[in-house]
Parts: sequence; C-alpha cells; structure tokens
Amino acid sequence: MTETIITMKNGTLNVPDAPIIPFIEGDGIGRDIWKPAKKVIDAAVKTGFGNRRKILWREGLAGETAYQRTGERLPEETLAALKKYIVGIKGPLTTPVGGGIRSLNVTLRQKLDLFTCLRPVRWFKGVPSPVKEPMKVNFHIFRENTEDIYVGIEYMAGTPENTKFKNFLLNDMQENRVRFPDTSSFGVKPVSKEGSERLIKAAIDYALAHNLPSVTLVHKGNIMKFTEGSFKKWGYELAEMNFAEKVFTWNTYLKIKNEKDKTTADKALNSAIENGKLIIKDCIADAFLQDILLHPENHSVIATLNLNGDYISDLAAAMVGGIGMAPGANINFETGHAIFEATHGTAPDIVGTGKANPGSLILSGAMMLEYLGWQSAANLIYRALEKTIATKKVTADLFEHMDAASLVSTEDFAEEIIINMT
Ligand code: NAI
Repeated sequence: MTETIITMKNGTLNVPDAPIIPFIEGDGIGRDIWKPAKKVIDAAVKTGFGNRRKILWREGLAGETAYQRTGERLPEETLAALKKYIVGIKGPLTTPVGGGIRSLNVTLRQKLDLFTCLRPVRWFKGVPSPVKEPMKVNFHIFRENTEDIYVGIEYMAGTPENTKFKNFLLNDMQENRVRFPDTSSFGVKPVSKEGSERLIKAAIDYALAHNLPSVTLVHKGNIMKFTEGSFKKWGYELAEMNFAEKVFTWNTYLKIKNEKDKTTADKALNSAIENGKLIIKDCIADAFLQDILLHPENHSVIATLNLNGDYISDLAAAMVGGIGMAPGANINFETGHAIFEATHGTAPDIVGTGKANPGSLILSGAMMLEYLGWQSAANLIYRALEKTIATKKVTADLFEHMDAASLVSTEDFAEEIIINMT
C-alpha cells in the first residue's frame, strides 16, 4: 500500500487509502490513553475496510516529551508535519503555570488558524447523566476559536499600558462609563465579520451535509450589541444571502409576523420544516444555558463565540457523562487542517493508575474517521462503545456512578470495545 498524503482541493478533502496521520501522544494520562485509543481506531479501520485502508501513524513530539528530548515544547518539525499532512490527532498537553509559557493548544490553533472548535455532544445509552432525558441531547457545537476576549489583549491595573489605554478611553473617547477607572484592568473583545461568517458558514454547511434540523446562533447581543449582536446579525445575513434556497431564518419568521400576522408566520415556518429546510434561529446565551437543560431537543447545531462556547461545551459534556467521554476537534474548514483531540486535560491525579477513561480520545478518533469520509469505521466505534457500556464494564469515572458495574482499566476498556466491534 503506497503512503500518500491528504490534500484539500476546491474545498474537498482528498483522502488516500493509506494516509499519513501525525499523532501527539500528549502528557500525563495522554501516555495512558493514546496506545489503547490507537488500537481501537486501527481495529475499526481493519474491521470496516480489511486490507483496503490503513492509517500510517507518524509521531509528532509536543509537550513534556518534546521538551525533554529537544528543549522545545512545540518543535517546528511537529508543526510542519501537522501543516503538511492536514489531519492530526492529539492527547492532552500540560500548560505549565507561570513562566510566560503559552498554552500549546492555543498556539496550535493560532498557527494553523483552526477557527472552529467542534464538539459533538451525544449520549451513549447507559452512561450516568445528571439530567432526566439525556437521550434528547444531540448537539454539534461550533465554537469560534480565534477571536473574542480570548485573544488575550488585557491591560493590568496600575501598569503603564493600562494608564495609556485608560487615558485614551477617558480623554480621546470621552468615555465616562468606567465606574472605577483608576483601579480597573481592561480587556479587548475583537469580533469580526469575516471571523463570524466563516464559523457560521461552517456550521450551516455541516448541518446541511449531516441533514440536521437547525442551527442556533448563541450570543449575548442584548448587552454587547456591536460584538455579539453583530455575530447574530452577520449570521442571519450570511444565511439569507448564501443559503437562501436551503434555509428558513427566524428573522424571516419575525418579518412575516410583523408584516402579516402570527398565523401566516407559523404556516411559513411549518412549511419550511416540512420541506426539509434548515432552520436558522438565535438565542441569548443565558436563556440558552437554561434551554439546553430544560429542552435539549430544541437545539442541534450550535454556532457561538469563543467564551460562550467554552461554557456551553463543558455544560453540554456534563449532561452526557462528563469529561472522560467528550471528543473534540479544532478545524479550519477552508484549508482542511484539523486536529482531533481529547477535550480533557492531563489528569495528573490519576496518571499511571489505569483509571483514565480513553473514551474521549477514542471518540475523537471516530470523529476523525468521519472527517476522512470513513463513516462506516466511525460507526463501528460508536456501536462498540455503546455495547461496552451496556455490559457495564467501565473505567473508574463511570464505575463510580453506575449500579452493578464492573471496574476495568484503561487498556481493558479499549480491549472490550475491540471485542464488541465484531
Ligand atoms: P483535567 O481535565 O486534567 O482533570 C480534571 C479532573 O477530571 C481530574 O479529576 C481528572 O482526574 C479527571 N479526568 C480528566 N480526564 C479524565 C479521563 N480521561 N478519565 C477519567 N478522569 C479524567 O483538568 P486540570 O486538572 O484542570 O488540568 C490538568 C492539566 O491539563 C493542566 O496542565 C492543563 O493546562 C492541562 N489541560 C490540557 C488540555 C488539552 O490539552 N486539551 C485541556 C485542559 C487542561
């Protein structure tokens, strides 16, 4: 089988039968979960495609291991491999506290301009959940990854930069709304039209490709009118301009309601749903957090800004069994670059104990297979994981909350998944 490289041409990913895929094992429990997760992914490809397809893994160093071997936490070679081979997968990486060391995850996102953090959130039957009807949860969260308060432009109170910034606000801008200007720190929240549009376009494309019913734009535009409010406005405009034939927006509903009446607007909405149109709606972030707990079935694809997305992703993950089972990916849908990742951290408290749940990385692997277009192999993982949980042979995090379960190690959990694949 010849080794070949994934390419992206005219918006389409071309995936050879034996793609080279770089992996970063990660720090802490990364070393415990990567090998079992890789075994499951390889088994799914083998079971699904026999000798026709195979992933040719190539290790990329990053984090502690990279630092020990090369003196750098993110060697240029690793970054170059992720750029060249387009798709990669990683375990968690430690961000040392203090010392001016930036998060490697943030660096990777910025260097490859991975503008979407995609988190699919679904429940696997049998996983302990704090909500009454976890089976109604099926979210696909598109969190903007490159803008918002997360860019880190902040000025600490008392510094010369802060004084400069404060003087600009108070004098040049004649701003008098800062309650305690002399002791305030300041942060800047950039939200652009391009940045919002590319994220929302990716969310709509994804919803259409996966035949999903709606996209909810989540924002706090009632308070932050020009940043979060614009996100919503640009989102509706984009949907109406670029996807006119395929979507029905809540904007249109309100327009019909204002110009005619509620009955006519309801009729238009129902007819759009019957005709399989994608519904584009919006929700204010605080109300949204309440709504996903009370009525999770109301939401499918979710497109939101960076900070909202952070809160929403963790809440949603907790609804279906928490951190050990939540997969994710950082993707640039224009260049194709994508890094699939376990969403949890390095869990220093359980390293080497066999307690780590490899589920998050295994599910990230399944997401990666879907992204490659190898859906049948991904489905094998989903079904086998479901079966394994049904037999109640689970790792410590799930065992703790399940009745009559058997405790298995990280490796044995992965083995069970492989057994249940056939
Ligand atoms: P953490 O996610 O590592 O741990 C939080 C809690 O969840 C711990 O009790 C841990 O034992 C548990 N946990 C995490 N993953 C688990 C798994 N797969 N199975 C069972 N239990 C699991 O978060 P924490 O402690 O805040 O961060 C530790 C380190 O990880 C820090 O250096 C942080 O910067 C880094 N981190 C890296 C991330 C990444 O690479 N994507 C994401 C979050 C944190």
